[in-house]
Amino acid sequence: MSLHLGDIAPDFTQDSTIGPVAFHKWIGPHWVVLFSHPADYTPVCTTELGSAAKLMEEFKRRDVKVLAVSVDPVDTHKDWIKDIDETQKTHVDFPILGDQDRKVSLLYDMIHPKQNDTLTVRSVFIIDPKKVIRTILTYPASTGREFGEIFRVIDSLQLTDKYQVATPANWHSGDDVVISPALQDKAALAAKFPKGYREIKPYLRMTPQPTH
Ligand code: BEZ
Repeated sequence: MSLHLGDIAPDFTQDSTIGPVAFHKWIGPHWVVLFSHPADYTPVCTTELGSAAKLMEEFKRRDVKVLAVSVDPVDTHKDWIKDIDETQKTHVDFPILGDQDRKVSLLYDMIHPKQNDTLTVRSVFIIDPKKVIRTILTYPASTGREFGEIFRVIDSLQLTDKYQVATPANWHSGDDVVISPALQDKAALAAKFPKGYREIKPYLRMTPQPTH
């Protein structure tokens, strides 16, 4: 199934390391990062899940729940978590789906046959509290993810949902943002951006991040 930004994230129920997860119910009123890893007991995946575990406070600060998935069984995940905790000096406490029947992997188009017939690639879905897919990222098995980029995108989504702004190239929270070109009324601009703005071109106007 091919998914696009703006689609409702497909619902499912699948077993996990914390018991069955009924996805939409589990999301509740929160944001979610759903990410796949190709296989248990592999080096890159071990570092990724360890990194995610160490960053739980950063996820929580943004009201984001974390859900991992791979096609290995739950029992194997549970055993492997002991290795992750030991080698990465952390504690994995977010759920990992045991997607042996590939229900979730296929639903979310995480198996790319030209990469591997049975294992998932490294997919990332950022899903908002309305269950809408807001970001899709895809990495090859040989490249571990940069979680800083995932936080950067979440920060941008959460900011631009509240204000008529967009975030420029290489933006990080705290940097100036761009004002939506749709907003042209001078009085409205002054009201919405009391910190002022710089007009570089009529379509390129920079303003301090409203939440900073
Ligand atoms: C890894 O996580 O190290 C890995 C998994 C599948 C293919 C290549 C690397």
